[in-house]
Amino acid sequence: MKKINSQIVKNKQVLLRVDYNVDLDKKGKIISDFRLRASLPTINFLLKNKAKKIIIISHLGRPEGKDKKLSLLPIAKHLEKLLNQKIIFIDDCVGKKVKEAIESSEEKIFVLENLRFYKEEEKNDKSFAQELAKLADVYVNDAFGVCHRLNASVGAITNFLPSYSGLLLEKEVKNLQKLKKNIKHPFVVILGGAQISTKLPIINEFLDIADYILLGGGLANTIWKARGFEVGKSLIEEEKIPEAKKLGSRKAELILPRDFIITSSFESSKGKLKEIENINKKDIIVDIGETSTKVFCQLIKSAKTILWNGPMGYWENKNFQTATIKIAKAIAQNKNFTVVGGGETLIAIEQLKLIDKYSLVSTGGGAMLEFLAKDNLPALKFLE
Ligand code: 3PG
Repeated sequence: MKKINSQIVKNKQVLLRVDYNVDLDKKGKIISDFRLRASLPTINFLLKNKAKKIIIISHLGRPEGKDKKLSLLPIAKHLEKLLNQKIIFIDDCVGKKVKEAIESSEEKIFVLENLRFYKEEEKNDKSFAQELAKLADVYVNDAFGVCHRLNASVGAITNFLPSYSGLLLEKEVKNLQKLKKNIKHPFVVILGGAQISTKLPIINEFLDIADYILLGGGLANTIWKARGFEVGKSLIEEEKIPEAKKLGSRKAELILPRDFIITSSFESSKGKLKEIENINKKDIIVDIGETSTKVFCQLIKSAKTILWNGPMGYWENKNFQTATIKIAKAIAQNKNFTVVGGGETLIAIEQLKLIDKYSLVSTGGGAMLEFLAKDNLPALKFLE
């Protein structure tokens, strides 16, 4: 990868792509600022090496067009506090007005509005990338968490500006390469969360690499459904059922939870324990049950390498965090090589104050998994 260095940034306007895709609470407050803090070394490097201007771009969530709730404004404000330096927020990310606002300002750091307010971003659109490129002299990709997506701001943009990797991106890649070379067995992979379509192909890859794959969240629901079981109104991705049908133990044993906490609403304060065979049409799975959690923790205890991404249940409701907390603690107690990463997982381990207890904490969720499974990511190829 072409790495950022002091010569290439001096007196230059730098377009810095970061991954500030963080969860916001109902009041629009940032729940975990881990991804923001992880980007500070690169911003400080640019300041120290006298970049003329630093223009920060990111996506947030999955908006369909402009959506005030997914504005980067609160993130810009929080970054201002972290850096203790004035930041100018610009409420768009391309066009003449944006360019003029940057050129006419005396300030050094700018945060532009959510890239995904433009559908062209996710289409890796060349003209959109060209518009972004007009804002700067040099492009730096420090957005490891989104490098598995072929989006304009990490893909097509590299056609129009000299492009380099940032310090976080370098660190993530180096750490994960080291892990990949040093996997010791038993290697246990624990996957949960809601991003079913991103993670199903990854399970397929890990079936040839790991020894045990333990599933929770929407992934487990979708596979049970694919195997003909009733999962009621639980989170699944219907169109992924054919793909899920093909998944079964290979080198790795694929272990699904057999007991669950179910409710009739995601907002409930209490759930009931049920075996998979007894789940009915009205039930919603919100966590994995005690017996399955015990089986998972036992395997975690005996593992020599552990990789974890995604909560076991509906983490947003604190009544359904039990299994995820037990899993997070069991992994933290394992003194072999433990790797965790991804948005919701970061929130969980920060809230549990366990962040220092793992060998490696990655800002990437899907990106971390895909990098480990395939040795590369689509956006990294453009920095070679
Ligand atoms: C992530 O949080 O995994 C990245 O920011 C990518 O987000 P996406 O899954 O919405 O593309």
